[in-house]
Amino acid sequence: MNGGAMSVLKLIQERRSIRRYKEDSIPEDVLVRVLEAARWAPSGKNLQPWKFILVRDKVMKERLAMASAGQFFMAKAPIIVVACGFPEDCYSRMGRYMKSWPVDVAIALEHLILQAQEEGLGTCWIGSFEEKEVKALLGIPENVKVLALTPLGYPNEKPSSRRRKSLEEITAYDGY
Ligand SMILES: Cc1cc2nc3c(=O)[nH]c(=O)nc-3n(C[C@H](O)[C@H](O)[C@H](O)COP(=O)(O)O)c2cc1C
Repeated sequence: MNGGAMSVLKLIQERRSIRRYKEDSIPEDVLVRVLEAARWAPSGKNLQPWKFILVRDKVMKERLAMASAGQFFMAKAPIIVVACGFPEDCYSRMGRYMKSWPVDVAIALEHLILQAQEEGLGTCWIGSFEEKEVKALLGIPENVKVLALTPLGYPNEKPSSRRRKSLEEITAYDGY
């Protein structure tokens, strides 16, 4: 097997959602590479309808955790990434039925997550949050959406892998 292809699969298989963090800060060059991975994500019409807010302030991190169903483990990480999307500036006819921004932002955030894994950093996709509260806390404009948050920091746990459906369950050949 091609060595490069194998290493991406291994990285993907070794990623876990991390819910315990060390408080150690992230070196600037590491952070830049993690953000670069998001920057190079594909997007509908290459519109790149995203912005990533990096929250380092302790009090703000605690407020964001509070706005995320009290998931206070988030605030322990040195950074919380808030992934925002632009509904008014994205590909609007994906599949002829939907706007592309949630997909675009999700791809970019997953790129970020995988580069974080490569750098020995942990993340946890946070979908349980009150968008209204997060927007108010960070001064996010009316026409901008929040798709997800993730803490970003060095893991303080090694969770075992969670079950995945089998390939047979999730794939079909030549028809549904
Ligand atoms: C859309 C989405 C929302 C999620 N929301 C949360 C969340 O609010 N809190 C949390 O701890 N994990 C959350 N997760 C993480 C999932 O629980 C986790 O990815 C899944 O259980 C598989 O575990 P793994 O990531 O360690 O492989 C979310 C994941 C996704 C993709």
